[in-house]
Amino acid sequence: MIDNVSIPETFDLPDRLTIEQKKKDDMLFDKALELIKQKDALLIAHYYTSETMQRLCEASGGFIGDSLEMARKGRDSDKKLILVAGVRFMGETAKILSPEKTVIMPDLSAECSLDLCCNVEDLKRVKSSVKDAVVVAYANTSAAVKAQADWIVTSSLAVELGKYLTQQKKTILWVPDRHLGSYIANMSDSDIYCWPGRCIVHDAFEANALDFVKKEHKDALVLVHPEAPASVVAKADYVGSTSQILAFAKQSSAKEFIIATERNIFYKLSLACKDKKFIEAPVASTKGHCISCANCPWMELNTLEKLIAALNCPKSHELSVDENIRLGALKPLERMLDFSRDLKEGKIILE
Ligand code: 13P
Ligand code: SF4
Repeated sequence: MIDNVSIPETFDLPDRLTIEQKKKDDMLFDKALELIKQKDALLIAHYYTSETMQRLCEASGGFIGDSLEMARKGRDSDKKLILVAGVRFMGETAKILSPEKTVIMPDLSAECSLDLCCNVEDLKRVKSSVKDAVVVAYANTSAAVKAQADWIVTSSLAVELGKYLTQQKKTILWVPDRHLGSYIANMSDSDIYCWPGRCIVHDAFEANALDFVKKEHKDALVLVHPEAPASVVAKADYVGSTSQILAFAKQSSAKEFIIATERNIFYKLSLACKDKKFIEAPVASTKGHCISCANCPWMELNTLEKLIAALNCPKSHELSVDENIRLGALKPLERMLDFSRDLKEGKIILE
């Protein structure tokens, strides 16, 4: 683990929405839908946004997906106005891939703790001290960090890329998620210098408490996102990205699942598997309070109220990426999308 980089001990989290604010948001559904159609925008939302946002996305003919699919959809759509409901790196990725499109977000201050754990100056310094390593950056990073990387990867492709680079006898400098980094190293037997960042949502899943829940639900399968700690991953029946968890639950013959990822995924899980039961994996708490309660506080910034404001005033909600940085980040992002395509088409064979 790399130890000479600055990682925030705590994060300045946005205030939680009150029940009144959530109710108000629900009442704005029709207005938001009307406006999306009027402005001919494509709404792309992550599975971790609220159920109301996901329903709006479905009703407007938009797209809900994991971070890899969101990137692909933004690039391939012929709509000129892309509305990204997620966190900032997701909006930036859309802009990097489609500079000619207007990319807006309900709230430009929707951070991600992983992004905040990796500043570009630290990365440049560490990079120069491990010159032999290939820099692989998780998609959950700023455009400036991406521009320093050889490869970008999302959780759905991370192990495969680890195996691919190991086949080529490469050493990896991985940023910024410590848990995903060690998971890649274990699964692909790769040689990794690992950054010590963390996702405040997934880092809080708790292995001992999970044992109790498993005892109460003996037949349940445990599905875990790889940003969770190794002790939780070790108890998983399946580890995967949000889309992969969803696909696994759909095709599985099991009827009960314990889910260790952000709780808004329950909307799609329940919709896709009406006859199955989903149980939240337990999270650690301090003095009786959990930090996130498996609910990403930055994803929650994506309210319908702000989405309406963004459509009414796109200029103040628009993503911009410096052109030099964009060009630097474009290469490793395109490498990822090509890698994903080549894997699917069987052009890359992993041992
Ligand atoms: P996915 O790549 O699985 O969508 O994950 C993104 C993310 O932010 C996980 O916390
Ligand atoms: Fe970032 Fe974690 Fe929120 Fe995902 S759940 S956006 S990794 S803070």
